Amino acid sequence: MPVMTCTKKALVGLVAFAAQASAFWRLPCSSPVVVERADPIVDEGRVSSHCHTVMGSNAFNFTMDYDLTQKATCSTCKVVEDLSSYWVPNLYYHAENGSFIDVKQSGGALIYYLQRTDEKDPNPDEGLIAFPKDFRMIAGSMTNRNNSDSLEQRAVSFACLGHDGPATPELPNQNCPNGLRTQLIFPSCWDGVNLDSPDHKSHMAYPSGVDTGFCPQSHPKRFITIFYEVTWSVDDFKDMWYGGKQPFVFSSGDPTGYGYHGDFVNGWDIPTLQKGINECTDASGVVEKCGAFTFREDDTMQACKTLPRVDEAVSGVLPALPGCNPLQSGPDPALPQTGCGAPTEIGDPVLPFTDVSTRLGWGYVACAKDPAGQTRTLDQYSADEHDMTVDKCVGICGDRGFAYAGVEFGSQCFCGGDAGVAPDRMPANGTMGQCAMPCAGDAGQVCGGAALVGVYKKCESAKDCKNVDMTGL
Ligand SMILES: *[C@@H]1O[C@H](CO)[C@@H](O)[C@H](O)[C@H]1NC(C)=O
Ligand SMILES: *[C@@H]1O[C@H](CO)[C@@H](O)[C@H](O)[C@H]1NC(C)=O
Ligand SMILES: *[C@@H]1O[C@H](CO)[C@@H](O)[C@H](O)[C@H]1NC(C)=O
Ligand SMILES: *[C@@H]1O[C@H](CO)[C@@H](O)[C@H](O)[C@H]1NC(C)=O
Repeated sequence: MPVMTCTKKALVGLVAFAAQASAFWRLPCSSPVVVERADPIVDEGRVSSHCHTVMGSNAFNFTMDYDLTQKATCSTCKVVEDLSSYWVPNLYYHAENGSFIDVKQSGGALIYYLQRTDEKDPNPDEGLIAFPKDFRMIAGSMTNRNNSDSLEQRAVSFACLGHDGPATPELPNQNCPNGLRTQLIFPSCWDGVNLDSPDHKSHMAYPSGVDTGFCPQSHPKRFITIFYEVTWSVDDFKDMWYGGKQPFVFSSGDPTGYGYHGDFVNGWDIPTLQKGINECTDASGVVEKCGAFTFREDDTMQACKTLPRVDEAVSGVLPALPGCNPLQSGPDPALPQTGCGAPTEIGDPVLPFTDVSTRLGWGYVACAKDPAGQTRTLDQYSADEHDMTVDKCVGICGDRGFAYAGVEFGSQCFCGGDAGVAPDRMPANGTMGQCAMPCAGDAGQVCGGAALVGVYKKCESAKDCKNVDMTGL
């Protein structure tokens, strides 16, 4: 996970003005749980205006409350007791011909939990408190397009990795060889009453130094400070700059970066979070040193996914940003746009595999592990064809009398007998795996992944052939 390497040094750079000893921990989140136009805070119960990359629990949905977070079966983040959701707009490259291409995220995110207390504490008795049930908030302002130097604006910054120099308040106008890191500090002062507010902000306030300093009297309670880092592989586009300015835009149609923002829905086990706040004070920030928490395996984090429900492409080469998001570069605030013909309906979950159940009589079993250098997960027969598809693979295995067929790495097909998939090759409990590679013979079909095999089982009859049910995950 490259995201793990840009850690303490960078944080110290950003918050070098912190006066007190700064205990903190870093919560690694391995990859997005979903990338789609959903935002259960700002656009509750409907398709969101723009696309987000979402980290955290697989209970993420268009409407959320604390009880729903607790029904999650996995999270892309490291701590088992945390079923929160963390999301930000995703980044696109804007090509000279007008197309948009998604910029790859290096890993998922690092969420810093910083034990910043009031330097001039009006409530010395209480100290830092954990987020309550049903607590949610947003940071940053999606319509903003200029640098106001307000506390809220100073909470947004961009680190150009591989270049010296301070983080900038806007998208940097130079290539970042080691990635562009988007950084967002959330407000930590609470009014002590409201779990949310109409603008999703006013129940919270920044302390005087954004993450340090003291809280205003209107918001006297102090939460632990959360800070998001997400890193984007902008170097993939280093030879594709044109017109003398940086070519990246956020999904909200923001080419400046001033409108970068993020959202948080609390899904922590609250006594455990409070214990972590009180006890996890190692200055290294290494979360594994916290005795208060237990930890997920990396492959469980990576295999944790939520099915998207908006029927549109959000990656690859796109003619426009998902939703109605023409570029608005300011300096006046961006105006919301509608009526461009983008989908507005929440649809059925988009399956992460090619469904051939009724058409060919093979049901999807799982995205199984197939580690390199070990006996194949399906080891009776194999083929590697430049025109591989799921249809072709189940045909190859079916013709030879095998009960199992598996597609892998785009072009490979493996067949297996009645024994099926060994339990230790199945995806981690509660996860659906991350098979997402297009088939060599038809990019519209899914053919496993790297060391991941998309497994199908022949049904008795096509009429009642069923795929594994993933909607409960
Ligand atoms: C997620 O949201 C969709 C659309 O609103 C809804 O149909 C579905 O039941 C929700 N899932 C859960 C687990 O709440
Ligand atoms: C536009 O340019 C991008 C980047 O060079 C390229 O990938 C894409 O195919 C082009 N799109 C069209 C419609 O020509
Ligand atoms: C700068 O942005 C703020 C907040 O979005 C807005 O109120 C203000 O009008 C903008 N300034 C200019 C010069 O457009
Ligand atoms: C997965 O869950 C099932 C059912 O709850 C359980 O029987 C099995 O032992 C679990 N496997 C692992 C590896 O935890």
